[in-house]
Amino acid sequence: MTLIPYDDRDGFIWYDGKMVPWREATLHVCTHGLHYASGAFEGERVYQGRIFKLNEHTERLFDSTRQLDLEIPYTVEAINQVCREIVQTQKIVDGYVRPIVWRGSEMMAVSAQQCKIHIAIAAWEWPSYFTAEARLRGIRMTIANWRRPGPDTAPVKSKAVGLYMICTLSKHAAEAKGYNDALMLDWRGRVAEATGANIFLVRDGELHTPIPDCFLDGITRRTVIELARARGIKTHERVIMPEELAEAEEVFITGTAVEVTPIREIDQYSFEVGPITRQLLADYEALVRSEPAKAASAA
Ligand SMILES: Cc1ncc(COP(=O)(O)O)c(C=O)c1O
Repeated sequence: MTLIPYDDRDGFIWYDGKMVPWREATLHVCTHGLHYASGAFEGERVYQGRIFKLNEHTERLFDSTRQLDLEIPYTVEAINQVCREIVQTQKIVDGYVRPIVWRGSEMMAVSAQQCKIHIAIAAWEWPSYFTAEARLRGIRMTIANWRRPGPDTAPVKSKAVGLYMICTLSKHAAEAKGYNDALMLDWRGRVAEATGANIFLVRDGELHTPIPDCFLDGITRRTVIELARARGIKTHERVIMPEELAEAEEVFITGTAVEVTPIREIDQYSFEVGPITRQLLADYEALVRSEPAKAASAA
């Protein structure tokens, strides 16, 4: 696969209120966000030219930045409008939108009271996160050594850039062992989530998913719970210990990037890509792709 570096692409990025040519959307090496992880971002999917649940994503961006004491100098509606505009400018049909907020370079120390708050929004064409074959057969995961921190250790309910350090380490370790992704436990040893997605177990025709008390209550997670409810499938949000994977018939992960992706294996445990996963995967596809107007108005 040929990599097209993200700093060498055509088009424009919206950067602090202006459309800037893609290759010129740069920042200085002495940027607080880079040195001290003072930033937060969003990830949104575009289906047939429309952003799925745009307003929920923008609201979450504002919520994440509030938790990091970063004040975005725009309104939610203004950012929604820019997201729509950048998708049009970049002529994205099926792709991804990445808003990011960070502290600038006015100060270079832990205290950063005078740093300017920057915001940029980029969009690009982006197909499936995993290969079509992997999604069809189910992906393979391994349990990570890193654990999700407790709510008194980090701003766990935000999409803070710093929280992804252990995700990248866990994903790299999993890939080095031939797996597609890692399952992260939380600081108590309970099942938490994947490196960029939430997790569901299927048992006796019902869904079981961990309570999101130290990780993101994903927008896709909530959408899938609704889709399941519409099918009469009950969801239990509860404490799940890793040993319980032995009793799961099906397992899948959910996220804006991974959508609904079946899991075939987590270390010694194997699962079938079964009827409930297939149904919810199809329902999710139908919601986001076949009914763009409905999906967008649900935003
Ligand atoms: C760590 C993490 N957990 C869960 C999710 C799923 O959230 P959503 O469904 O809102 O994309 C994501 C993706 O944003 C993520 O990065």
